[in-house]
Amino acid sequence: MIPMTTKPILLHPDPRLKKVCDPVQDVTDELRKLADDMLETMYDAPGIGLAAPQVGVLSRLIVMDCVKEEGAAPQPMVLFNPEVIAASEDTSVYEEGCLSIPEQFADVTRPKWVQVRWMDRDGNPQEQEFDELWSTCVQHEIDHLNGKLFIDYLSPMKRQMMTRKSQKMKRERART
Ligand code: NI
Repeated sequence: MIPMTTKPILLHPDPRLKKVCDPVQDVTDELRKLADDMLETMYDAPGIGLAAPQVGVLSRLIVMDCVKEEGAAPQPMVLFNPEVIAASEDTSVYEEGCLSIPEQFADVTRPKWVQVRWMDRDGNPQEQEFDELWSTCVQHEIDHLNGKLFIDYLSPMKRQMMTRKSQKMKRERART
């Protein structure tokens, strides 16, 4: 067994979090290892989703596990080149947070459900409908691959305030 490793998570603001990431051509062992490390990093944080740019890799890869119930079996998912191919007109509002903007949360309105196509860890095409928290999470993570953060949905004033707080936290972390 290859030991898994947690990776440092980039904090906003960081130019790498504003980039459009490159599609994955082939799912290599190296990318599978990265996906495993990202899952480990996500569970350790703890969080329910993580995108490759958040660990400094500008490739279209996200991982997530939105199982919240205490004692329920984990449901880790690895999605390469995830793409929303259909979305509901109905919307829902969730209070979102982001591991790159720690300890800050805000309501974001998104389509209630989305149909997503992606390539799994064996390179096979997959398609599935996501609802509830899974829907919010997959949309939030796909946004990361396009250089978009949840605070980009907020008013400029709120975005600025949260950016300043995150900047402060980043400076404090750099010092310790
Ligand atoms: Ni995020």
